[in-house]
Amino acid sequence: MAFRIAPSILSADFARLGEEVRAVTKAGADLIHFDVMDNHYVPSLTVGPLVCAALRPHAEVPLDVHLMVKPVDRLVSEFARAGASIISFHPEASEHIDRTIALIRENGCKPGLVLNPATPLACLDYTLEKLDLVLLMSVNPGFGGQQFIQSVLPKITEVRRRIDALGRDIWLEVDGGVKADNIASIARAGADTFVAGSAIFGAKDYAAVIREMRARLAMV
Ligand code: DX5
Ligand code: ZN
Repeated sequence: MAFRIAPSILSADFARLGEEVRAVTKAGADLIHFDVMDNHYVPSLTVGPLVCAALRPHAEVPLDVHLMVKPVDRLVSEFARAGASIISFHPEASEHIDRTIALIRENGCKPGLVLNPATPLACLDYTLEKLDLVLLMSVNPGFGGQQFIQSVLPKITEVRRRIDALGRDIWLEVDGGVKADNIASIARAGADTFVAGSAIFGAKDYAAVIREMRARLAMV
């Protein structure tokens, strides 16, 4: 299986974001994970399409935009114009999930659905075949640096089973508390794409952390 590492710039130095994106790309990132928080769906407030557009020229890899905002739809075209490749949203934040998925695709981006640790898999029943990515949260959204919630592991396995049964190339991404020492168990559960914020940006040598993560993944 191809594994992808998506550093979350939430834990980067916001005074030097362009530089941080270049550094982490050079260090081996496959995607740049861009966390958008609105002080409404989640208690934190981060950045919007303006910052996404400013970073686009600095990222040689796709931008993986994780919307923690409510409502979702109005921001979709703005993030598409700002250079997003993937746009993921939380089903609780959209009144019409199917419409939001279609909107993301109409805007030329790959749609992803994000499930919080306690969100049941039922919301994938009529949507999975329309998605390019399922993002399973392994912490409650809103903050970096939280502990990985172990009960998400069997959930990853169940989503992997559903994706394989469908036979479409849908990425299975995990976000929250991912580190070099648990990445192999998360991969073994069935994930192929790994968001890591504090584990990468909290270290001095980004390349060393990404290399260590890849070494652990190579043993899966
Ligand atoms: C949390 C964000 C995550 C966060 C992960 O709401 O969606 O992407 O940056 O941070 P770590 O890797 O530190 O748990
Ligand atoms: Zn995220």
